[in-house]
Amino acid sequence: MEDFTQFLVVFSMAAAVGVLSTVFVLTWVLHFKEGLGWDGGLAEFNWHPVLMVIGFVSLQGLAIIIYRLPWTWHCSKLTMKFIHAGLNLLAFILAVVSVVAVFDFHNGAKIPNMYSLHSWLGIGAVVMYCLQLVLGVGMYLIPLAPISWKVAFMPFHVYSGLFLFTSVIAVSLMGITEKLIFGLKDPKYKDSPPEAIFVNFLGVFLVVFGVLILWIATRTSWKRPSEQIPHTLHTNGEGEEDTVYPQMTTAQTRCNE
Ligand code: HEM
Ligand code: HEM
Repeated sequence: MEDFTQFLVVFSMAAAVGVLSTVFVLTWVLHFKEGLGWDGGLAEFNWHPVLMVIGFVSLQGLAIIIYRLPWTWHCSKLTMKFIHAGLNLLAFILAVVSVVAVFDFHNGAKIPNMYSLHSWLGIGAVVMYCLQLVLGVGMYLIPLAPISWKVAFMPFHVYSGLFLFTSVIAVSLMGITEKLIFGLKDPKYKDSPPEAIFVNFLGVFLVVFGVLILWIATRTSWKRPSEQIPHTLHTNGEGEEDTVYPQMTTAQTRCNE
């Protein structure tokens, strides 16, 4: 890999900020708020930010850069596809549980559902993410789609994946701000109590995490090397043979792996 040290620095920073975000969101709900529970009350609501930050933001970020980790390059592409898809599926499941928690809390407290911009954009992101998962599995995991479709679809897959990841961070920042405004009564958010400062930092960490993941995912020199062996047959690591045709472009080989 080119610039391995640079990759290591950026990756370590992303990992550190990801862990910090998790520690901060847990400290927020366990120390400053009502803790965690499944009782229809505020403790149930608290699963919402926890699962969104850990699942939808951090796990999705890891899933996006999983192909870029040089330590995984000895694994077959198929194994990496399963890990990429599996992490994204786990992130999706946690997001759904998180949305169920907030709906359940709202219904119990007789608060209307889906009135805020945060909730509109949030539910939009969850639905689009589900679509991205289904299309990803259909195109790249089930061996039915023709190679020309896989190649043509890949730029859309990457663009919509990065767009979704960015949206999820933006939606989280809106949710955090809403909760601070609703939840802080005396002193209020504008009086900058310790909870407000602490949670503002959580928001900053989410932004920095996003910046670092997007940086890693957009460096072409940090891409997983293609498994192309021109003019030969080679195995895909699962004991089956994939034909690599001499006239294939790098993009075609990458999508055929
Ligand atoms: C409500 C999605 C992150 C705070 C909601 C609702 C959805 C949603 C769909 C509407 C539930 C209903 O109407 O019953 C999301 C998504 C997130 C996210 C997709 C991550 C990408 C966060 C975070 C917080 C948060 C990190 C921080 C505390 C809230 C609050 C509500 C809410 C306070 C209730 C008020 C409202 O409906 O706007 N969220 N959320 N959200 N969320 Fe989030
Ligand atoms: C690549 C996002 C689901 C297969 C990527 C990339 C992103 C992404 C951002 C570019 C990564 C890079 O350039 O290193 C997502 C998101 C998903 C999702 C957000 C879920 C909502 C899936 C699924 C599959 C899949 C279910 C099925 C196996 C692939 C493949 C690549 C890729 C084959 C190309 C890797 C390469 O260039 O070597 N995905 N993806 N994705 N994704 Fe997904």
